[in-house]
This record gives sequence, structure tokens and C-alpha cells, in this order.
Amino acid sequence: MFENLKPQPADSILSLMKAFRDDPRTEKLDLGVGVYRDADGRTPVMRAVKAAERRLWEEQDTKSYTALGGDPAFAAAMGDLILGEGLATDRRSAIATPGGTGAVRQAIEFIRTARPEARIWVPDPTWPNHLSILAATGRDVAHYRYFDAETGGVDDAGMIADLSAVAKGDVVLLHACCHNPTGADPDAETWKRIAETLGERGAVPLLDIAYQGFGDGLDTDAAGVRLLVQTLPELLICASCSKNFGLYRERVGLLLTIARDADTARMAQATLEHLNRQAYSFPPDHGARLVTIILGDPALRADWQDELESMRTRMLDLRRQLAAELRRETNSERFDAVADHRGMFTRLRLSEDEIATLRERHGVYMVGDGRINIAGLDTRTVPILARAIASLGD
Ligand code: LMR
Repeated sequence: MFENLKPQPADSILSLMKAFRDDPRTEKLDLGVGVYRDADGRTPVMRAVKAAERRLWEEQDTKSYTALGGDPAFAAAMGDLILGEGLATDRRSAIATPGGTGAVRQAIEFIRTARPEARIWVPDPTWPNHLSILAATGRDVAHYRYFDAETGGVDDAGMIADLSAVAKGDVVLLHACCHNPTGADPDAETWKRIAETLGERGAVPLLDIAYQGFGDGLDTDAAGVRLLVQTLPELLICASCSKNFGLYRERVGLLLTIARDADTARMAQATLEHLNRQAYSFPPDHGARLVTIILGDPALRADWQDELESMRTRMLDLRRQLAAELRRETNSERFDAVADHRGMFTRLRLSEDEIATLRERHGVYMVGDGRINIAGLDTRTVPILARAIASLGD
């Protein structure tokens, strides 16, 4: 049997991590994988997480199984964080999952169970692992226009035109905020048009919210999701606590579904739990419990929000600095969109050759599509990167 195994395609993001580690140069810049780093280049455990871990260690008196959907208090707290308190509470169903990736995988399995023939529309471009999971599960995938390579913003007209052609019952994957890999997000007006278009077509949104709090703030980042929940009968929402709680390796995620009514929501809940049972029985609990403690304790929650806000504003300041340095160094407006992007990523719109030159000559590691992780920079390295990019024209 094992002789039939073939090499698997390398993951473009994870293979970059390895290439960076293997590079012996000391002056090198890791702008690859989406992990937050502070001004000292560290990815610290957040203060509120440390405090919640201490409390959990003292108070937890059993490690026995939870429920198939995970602790219901986690689902409730995360549901409120994403949707706000009181929105569609009787239409919600949810399971804890191993990270946001686990949520995406379980969402695809849910669609496969409920409507196997549904075509799944994804933005062009999207997170490479979306495509990998869709391929592994044999889904019928189509792409809608999303990124305008001329302006560096969202191709609103192209996106709405493509979404106007989706068939009834198709699923449309949307990044709720901080689009990965481009950093270009729809504005409020475009979200309204997305909601109208999906409503007219009878399509089901599959929202990936992996960076809530990294863009314009916790509530603003969820505004698109909330609008769709107010307007449409059925939705799937995949959330990650990797970035905004810094819980990467603990694997904390949630798959939240919104049904048209409470009866259907009960059926959805049973289906979600069945999917967990088939995949791994009970989802991991430790990290999810930390999130529940933080969200349920006013002091810890305030401290978490403060720290998250300082991470967000640090990335925003770096963006603005980078856009300004690039404008100065290149004497052009070519990179101005960097300041308008949001979240951790920006697509720089460089050619493959330029990206390779940056790596070989300057030790700058970015994903092959020109995506950089803004949090991989600091005030000292921003001008170095800007000069390296400007020198590409020499
Ligand atoms: C990324 O896009 O870099 C992150 O979401 C990490 C990952 O798993 O790809």
C-alpha cells in the first residue's frame, strides 16, 4: 500500500518558514507566515491568556470529556463576540474545532452533507489552504473576481458581477475582514451589495473570520458578517482564535452556523456534533476554555482588548510608515494602497522575479504571490524593505 504514496504539493506558506530558517544570513527578514510579532520580534503569550491559564490550573478539577460540540459556554461567548449579543440567538448552532482550519474543514463537510452538489465560490485570490481543503474534499470550486491589481483595492464591480451569476444554493466563501492574502477589504457599501446579491441569488455565505480585531476593531471587523446574518436565512461562519488571542498552537476555532429558524438550528447542531464525532470525537478544550474565561471576566476581557488594540495599532502604524517610505523611495504612488489595506497582510503587487530577487539579494522572505506579513516588520526594518523594493528598478 505505502508504495502508492506520492509526494504531496508543498504548502507555499509553510515551506517558506523552513526556507527562512535554513537561510544562514543574519540580516534577513521573515515576512511570511501570518504570526503576530511585537517590536522585539517576539510572539508573546497575551497577558489575559497567562492570567486565565493560572486560574484554570488552580480551579480545574477534571479533564474528563466535555460535549461533542465543545463547552457550550465557549460557543455562546464566541458567538456573541462575532455577532454581538442578541443577534439571531435562536438560529445559532456551533461546535468548537481545532483552530480556524478545523472550522473550515468542518464547514465543507457540513456542506457536503447538506448539499453535496453545491458549487463553492472563492475569491481570487484566497488563502491557499482554502483551495487545498476544497481539493482534498473533492468540491466543485469556482473563482469570483476580488482583487484589482491596478488599484490594489477590491474589484467591486467584478466581484458583484461574478456573484450575480452564482446558482441558487451555491456557497460563496468570503473573508469577513483583513483579507488573506491581499489586505483589501470591501467597504460598507460593497458589503450591502454583497448581501443584496447573495439574497437575490439564493446563495449561502461561508464566512472566514480569522483576524477579528486586527483590522478596524472588534465590532467594525464583524460588521459585514452581522449584516449578512440580518439579511440572509442561512450562513456558515468559521472563526479562529489563533491570531486575536495569540493561541496559535492550542488550536482554538469555532464553526458557527445560522439557520432559518430554531427547529432547523437544532438539526444543524446535531449534524455539527456528528461531524465532530466522525472526525475526532471531542474537540480540544484547553485553549477554548481560556477564551471563555477571558470573555466572561470583565477585567480580563478589558485587558485582552487593550493588548489586542495595541497589536492592531502597531500594524496600522507600520503600514502607514511603509507606504510613506515606499512613496519616498520610489517617488511614485504605486504602493499607496498598502496604507488602505487592513490586518496582517498586504499584497505588494511585485512580479515573481522581483520577489525572488528580494529573497536572494536582500534576504527578504515573502509569500510567492507578493504577500507580506506587516507584523514581521519594525520601525528599523521598514526603511530597509522600502529601499530594497525601490532598488528593484535599478
Ligand atoms: C497564514 O496565512 O500565514 C496563516 O493563516 C497561517 C497558515 O496556517 O497558513
